Amino acid sequence: MKSDNKPDVCVVGLGYIGLPTAAVIARSGCKVLGIDISEAVVETINRGEIHIEEVDLDGLVHAVVSRGLLSASTSVAASDVYVIAVPTPFDKQHQPDISYVLAAARSVAPVLKAGDVVILESTSPVGTTEQIRDLFAELRPDLKLPGLTRETPDVSIAYCPERVLPGRILEELTNNDRSIGGITPRCARKAIAFYKLFVRGQCIATDARSAEMTKLVENAYRDVNIAFANELSIVADRMGLDVWEVIRLANRHPRVNILTPGPGVGGHCIAVDPWFIVAGAPEDTPLIRTARGVNDGKIHHVIARASALVEAHPTARVACLGLAFKANIDDFRESPARLVAATLARRYGSRISVVEPYAAQLPREFEGTGAVQIDLDTALEECDLLIALVDHDQFRQVPLAERAAKVVYDTRGIWPDQPKPDAEAAPGLRLAS
Ligand SMILES: NC(=O)c1ccc[n+]([C@@H]2O[C@H](COP(=O)([O-])OP(=O)(O)OC[C@H]3O[C@@H](n4cnc5c(N)ncnc54)[C@H](O)[C@@H]3O)[C@@H](O)[C@H]2O)c1
Repeated sequence: MKSDNKPDVCVVGLGYIGLPTAAVIARSGCKVLGIDISEAVVETINRGEIHIEEVDLDGLVHAVVSRGLLSASTSVAASDVYVIAVPTPFDKQHQPDISYVLAAARSVAPVLKAGDVVILESTSPVGTTEQIRDLFAELRPDLKLPGLTRETPDVSIAYCPERVLPGRILEELTNNDRSIGGITPRCARKAIAFYKLFVRGQCIATDARSAEMTKLVENAYRDVNIAFANELSIVADRMGLDVWEVIRLANRHPRVNILTPGPGVGGHCIAVDPWFIVAGAPEDTPLIRTARGVNDGKIHHVIARASALVEAHPTARVACLGLAFKANIDDFRESPARLVAATLARRYGSRISVVEPYAAQLPREFEGTGAVQIDLDTALEECDLLIALVDHDQFRQVPLAERAAKVVYDTRGIWPDQPKPDAEAAPGLRLAS
């Protein structure tokens, strides 16, 4: 560590989590080296530019790169603190894949020295931080490692999950509370000292396994509660009820807070992480597994209802509004909206248009379908059937006057004032969910 007491930091993985984290750490005055296996990502960042969309990130990265506080490389160099933020997907059997995490740890192992701190931020199954420690033990038998020595370990290893909201990442990185789980209490203390350099939220010490589980539990909690809302929306469709009205009324109860239904659950967190709990305790997780099934099933419910509408209006030009997995972001991973729109494009070809202000072009699966990307103004002028799949602010703000005469399938409840199909003198249709 240098005389100014600011550690040199290496952030491994420069995606949605790693790049903002690297930039925020650099802003606190630490010299940060960001590592990515993608040459394109490294070159972009070294030009002071960014490869992902996130509010205010471009200005911050430009500033810290210009000041020489952040640079990027494809190979790890000796530092004092290593933060690992690489992907943790699951395979076709819903088993967690921690190979990226272990590859990242493998790249750090050769440069580790006494006094270093290694922190895993990737969402990980319980026990992953200990697996990193065991990998270090195998690759660096010269180092005393926490939990494997009676003496003071050379290296501190901790787990600190990320709970930021895309679109507010920079703000939440610094203001959110953090659970920081050390392999030993000393590891947690060392990791907390590091986070205090740039985090204003509370840093709460725990053990690594509890911190790993905490992150998974947070997302499984969201998934189960969204599944309840999505199941209600399917029941409401069958009963001919407006689910938004029912939820609005039920939420007047002082102890009821039903979440908002949607076209399914997407992204790389809520739709993925519950499987990490199921994989760790398959016999004991019927509720979590069922919630996943309900949320995935909602996508097919929406596809069926949207298809029925398209077929019921054979001359209508159809606009699918949105591809992102949630509002106001450019992240299309595991997105139900994208799956719904692509399925409709394959079925109905050039009748389908897609509006996605956060995409420069349509994803590859739309190629050859005949579907085209159009802007919102064109959709409002030329399309008769609107399928609202994402609650981007731009869509939410479309005034009633511009959609009252259209057939509308609002899967997100963004237009509560849309006339109901049977409303008197209202030509437009608003399906419940
Ligand atoms: N994005 C979110 O909102 C969010 C929120 C909380 C937690 N997380 C978790 O954070 C982790 C990272 O997610 P993300 O969204 O930033 O992923 P991402 O795909 O945006 O970025 C990961 C980056 O890591 C790079 N990479 C892969 N293997 C590498 C290696 N061995 N060495 C160096 N770089 C490597 C990839 O090229 C990529 O640029 C995941 O575990 C995710 O579940 C993400």
